[in-house]
Amino acid sequence: MTALSTSPVVLITGASSGIGAATATRLAGAGYRVHAVARRRGRLDELAATAGCTTHVLDVRDHQALLDLVELIGPVDVLVNNAGLGRLDAPLARASLDDITRVIDTNVTAAMVAARAVLPAMIERRRGHVVNIGSMAGLYPLPSAIYGTSKGAVYRLSTNLRLELRGTGVRVTEICPGRVSTEFYDVAITDPHRRADIKHSGVDEITPEEVADAILYAIGVPRHVNVNRIELQPTEQTYGGAQFDPVDDTLK
Ligand SMILES: NC(=O)c1ccc[n+]([C@@H]2O[C@H](COP(=O)([O-])OP(=O)(O)OC[C@H]3O[C@@H](n4cnc5c(N)ncnc54)[C@H](OP(=O)(O)O)[C@@H]3O)[C@@H](O)[C@H]2O)c1
Repeated sequence: MTALSTSPVVLITGASSGIGAATATRLAGAGYRVHAVARRRGRLDELAATAGCTTHVLDVRDHQALLDLVELIGPVDVLVNNAGLGRLDAPLARASLDDITRVIDTNVTAAMVAARAVLPAMIERRRGHVVNIGSMAGLYPLPSAIYGTSKGAVYRLSTNLRLELRGTGVRVTEICPGRVSTEFYDVAITDPHRRADIKHSGVDEITPEEVADAILYAIGVPRHVNVNRIELQPTEQTYGGAQFDPVDDTLK
């Protein structure tokens, strides 16, 4: 379907790879007018060429830049708060300050700032949808204090924002994936041997397109339906799944 001027406007953060890129592609293909945000210009240029969406080079930790972007775009119908990262081999006891602040600033604070930017127009127009990409790590205990804390906050942001917005017509959905085959683990695990371990742990990972389909479903249901939360994970993954044990540094 070709995007029409009346098509809903979607803002997706972290759209240069993985779940964000797949979602931008799916939604643009379904006729939404997609604005895709990330830091890597080259990847965004490729996305613009293949998916036909509008791209913006931006670090979501730059709050003023996020606010300015929303001002530039105008009313947003769907915000997909997807930009995020983990530091899975940085247990809190030996994490750097940058490990802590980068994860929290990207996964939590930026998601709140983006929502703060789009919500007034959504409330005024009595329609809109905030989709937060959470994680199994936000719902179940994992030996990953920093990432788990950030995604636990996304879980609570989603439930409480939904209550704050009751009566406004604005919907809130949290998507909680288990392991998805993206570049996430390249960023989250610095040691290449450990990365290889997790890649070869025998779990048939979900594809980013499968997560994008869940998002497409959640935003496509009739407006009187709010999909609160979707959990999806590989069939062979337990809750949480394989993680590095911070005590003996092994993959459990
Ligand atoms: N993969 C999994 O197993 C899994 C499971 C559960 C939840 N998730 C969540 O899914 C979301 C997407 O991750 P993914 O798996 O698709 O990994 P990914 O391929 O590494 O994608 C992460 C995206 O976030 C963007 N990003 C990171 N920091 C940013 C910043 N400061 N400003 C703007 N964009 C930023 C990256 O783009 P640039 O580097 O170009 O900025 C990239 O487009 C994350 O929130 C992640 O926590 C992933």
